[in-house]
Amino acid sequence: MSSIVIHDHTFKTKISSAEIQKAVADVAKQINKDLKGKKPLFLAVLNGSFMFAADLMKKINIECEISFVKVASYEGTQSTGSMKQLIGINEDIKGRTVVIVEDIVDTGNTIENIWNELNTMGVAELKVATLLFKPEAYTKTVPLDYVAIVIPNDFIVGYGLDYKGLGRNLEDIYVLDYENDKK
Ligand code: IMP
Ligand code: MG
Repeated sequence: MSSIVIHDHTFKTKISSAEIQKAVADVAKQINKDLKGKKPLFLAVLNGSFMFAADLMKKINIECEISFVKVASYEGTQSTGSMKQLIGINEDIKGRTVVIVEDIVDTGNTIENIWNELNTMGVAELKVATLLFKPEAYTKTVPLDYVAIVIPNDFIVGYGLDYKGLGRNLEDIYVLDYENDKK
């Protein structure tokens, strides 16, 4: 087990690169089987999903397309908190099989927003592929079709996921190490 410090916190290895690759391969295998002949459009949600999306795509062997979207948060006109809007969709997604590619589903707020917005655009079929899922934190009902790794409700970093901007480049996934934390 290795330990790293990012900003003010200590993290320890949780999921090795080899375990991640195995889980990604399993998801790819399932997608290859389920979506063969449907020419799916993968929509990877930046920034967090870039590494998962790249590794997943290398293992997809059916005809497909990939594009990248971003969720922009902005303050609503009312003082009701922040709204979320999907930006970057240039393809005509009407009638398509669309697979949302996410790094992690935590409370589910983000995926629910994306799901609802894409559903107003006339897609034929909408699927979700997420690298990580925290079932204990999930409060929504959007079906998560492809989950690579289920994790407890702990804060993690690496393989695309960041802690205050750092750690996305790490090959393994690390978890906050409460016992050895300086705080
Ligand atoms: P949700 O909307 O609560 O499902 O959270 C989704 C977003 O929160 C993800 O796309 C991540 O950007 C971020 N997030 C949730 N859990 C973690 C974590 O453990 N580490 C890093 N980012 C996280
Ligand atoms: Mg994300």
